[in-house]
Amino acid sequence: MCMNNYSVFKRLAFKFDPEIMHDMSIYAGSLAPRMADLFQPLNKHENHNLTIGDLSWNFPVGLAAGFDKNAKAIQFFDKSGFGAIEVGTITKRRQIGNPKPRIWRHADINSVQNAMGFPNAGYKEILNNLESTDLSSVCLGANIGKNKNTSEAKTPAEYAFLYEKFAPLADYLVINISSPNTPGLRSFQSKELLVPLLQAVNEKRATTPKPLFIKVSPDMNQEDLNMLCELSKEFSLSGIIATNTTIDHDFGKGGLSGDYIRDISAKSRKIICENLREDPGQSVIGVGGINCYQDIKDFWKMGGGFVQIYTAFIFHGPKLLKDIAKEIDKDLKKYQFQNVQELYRNIKETD
Ligand SMILES: Cc1cc2nc3c(=O)[nH]c(=O)nc-3n(C[C@H](O)[C@H](O)[C@H](O)COP(=O)(O)O)c2cc1C
Repeated sequence: MCMNNYSVFKRLAFKFDPEIMHDMSIYAGSLAPRMADLFQPLNKHENHNLTIGDLSWNFPVGLAAGFDKNAKAIQFFDKSGFGAIEVGTITKRRQIGNPKPRIWRHADINSVQNAMGFPNAGYKEILNNLESTDLSSVCLGANIGKNKNTSEAKTPAEYAFLYEKFAPLADYLVINISSPNTPGLRSFQSKELLVPLLQAVNEKRATTPKPLFIKVSPDMNQEDLNMLCELSKEFSLSGIIATNTTIDHDFGKGGLSGDYIRDISAKSRKIICENLREDPGQSVIGVGGINCYQDIKDFWKMGGGFVQIYTAFIFHGPKLLKDIAKEIDKDLKKYQFQNVQELYRNIKETD
């Protein structure tokens, strides 16, 4: 059997605790970004660029939030082939998160369960990390959230504060109100709580305008998703990131990702795409169970835009991005398109 270097790494890594392995990988990636070369990553080409709205990614697949929480290994992930890197979730104050263990692999269903609760170094240290990183060739997303002990009343101001701090450095920002491991966070997906939050953030946005998305859970019903889409338009956001992890499972605490959420996440994305399709200022970033080029094509055909990956990267490594690029290149050749932009625009004409 022919094994790539990532398969060898994974065989060893999967024998250890997921969070310890994750932290060690981030540490190694932060010290030596060139280590990405060990996994024979994708070489990005100009014809892989994709621009949607005000955002340009040099490959249509980005790294989802939660992987590089503290913005330590951006160069490593850039060299691994991602077209954008979303750091965070960042909170105002440093916090340790929930008690360990809090990440579990479910290799039989290509899924990961996590109950982390936003462990992160806090905004100051993360800003420092970003300021000491060469971001010139990277599309950077900053995913912001609230501290566990922040009251409901103080939450809008906290998001506004974080927006103001990270907008000058980030290419886009994400209001995360969908992680299941911070008590009360998902209640900000209700209109009553979300409107004051968006008002507070938009006040800061007037001085530093940046593309802004809200990230939603796959556990919302159609009516609530419709309402969120209306708010996204009303507050002139850039759109919605769908989705975070689900709590609709029998494995215990936390949210589940990967193959397990493939269908429910795609279902939420479809509803959101239908809502936002007619508005040229809105776009949908797809995440949740995406693990191959066909998933991306299906999403594009329903009107979606950029995609992000988390769990499939754990299971397949940088080769996954290379495989997606190969499939893209095949389609470019088959349909005689010059680049991904053209492929994306004409996706409905492909099989
Ligand atoms: C261990 C772990 C930690 C995560 N942490 C965050 C986070 O801090 N903020 C966030 O918005 N999403 C977080 N996510 C959710 C992912 O960004 C993504 O939305 C979700 O896993 C679905 O994508 P996937 O199926 O490709 O993994 C996390 C997911 C996992 C598995």
